[in-house]
Amino acid sequence: MTSSQIPMSDPVLIAPETWLIPNLAAAGPSQFLPVNSLLIRGSEPIIVDTGAPIHRQRWLDLVFSLVDPEDVRWIFLSHDDSDHIGGLADALAMCPSATMVTNFFATERLSLERSLPIKRLRWLEPGDSFLAGDRQMRLVLPPIFDGPTTRGLFDERTGVLWGVDSFAAMTTGSVHHRDDIPEDLYDESFALLNSLVSPWHQWLDPARYQRHVDSVADLHPDTVATAHGPLLTGDAIGDAFNRVRSMAAASCVTPPGQSALDELIAAMSVDQEAARTQSTPRASA
Ligand SMILES: [Fe+2]
Ligand SMILES: [Fe+2]
Repeated sequence: MTSSQIPMSDPVLIAPETWLIPNLAAAGPSQFLPVNSLLIRGSEPIIVDTGAPIHRQRWLDLVFSLVDPEDVRWIFLSHDDSDHIGGLADALAMCPSATMVTNFFATERLSLERSLPIKRLRWLEPGDSFLAGDRQMRLVLPPIFDGPTTRGLFDERTGVLWGVDSFAAMTTGSVHHRDDIPEDLYDESFALLNSLVSPWHQWLDPARYQRHVDSVADLHPDTVATAHGPLLTGDAIGDAFNRVRSMAAASCVTPPGQSALDELIAAMSVDQEAARTQSTPRASA
């Protein structure tokens, strides 16, 4: 699938002054992996993660169609994985008034690949909060994560929780709510992606992990937005927490293997041949 065949969406308003910044990556026949971030445009606007490098220009276009870079006061970096830092350097350069909320270890890891404006950083840990003008923002450790520096973010004003890499699931295109995802696709891809991203779940003590998941669920978010899954509201929130609770001590889900790769390559070859045939002018009789 070429980039021109990947559906694109405008920002999605998910709460007052709060937008999902959606992007998609191809993930199989008619399936896409969401690669989202957030913009909270309160009295002190907050950029929450900065997308993937492949979406960099589109991410910049979407975010700065909603907010003047000069007005941005906070850049919250959930963790230093590449799919969350695609626009980070641009955002820091374009938003001179922004403080970047991160932590010690993310800074250490990022420092191996880029220079950071150390005086503009604030190091916070789960349980800490920062006041962003009209709203208190609380850091949390999400239930599922794939990097040691990961921190989620809870907006106490709107009840929006940024779950980072938790609750991932494939989508069918430019649909962003759990209710718009086919049930079988949600079931299968949620189980696969949440297991792949946190294979340590197989060694968890269920009772101890339950207490951790409860500590996040007890925030009672009204909306859960994540980097790689659909928006969750209502019963879908409790359902998602229950799905990850059940992963404690469960076996890992087996990912696609070589036969799946062979099928993918074969399908690509067929597509390329069809495109070549269509673009070749027919000889006139
Ligand atoms: Fe990650
Ligand atoms: Fe991610």
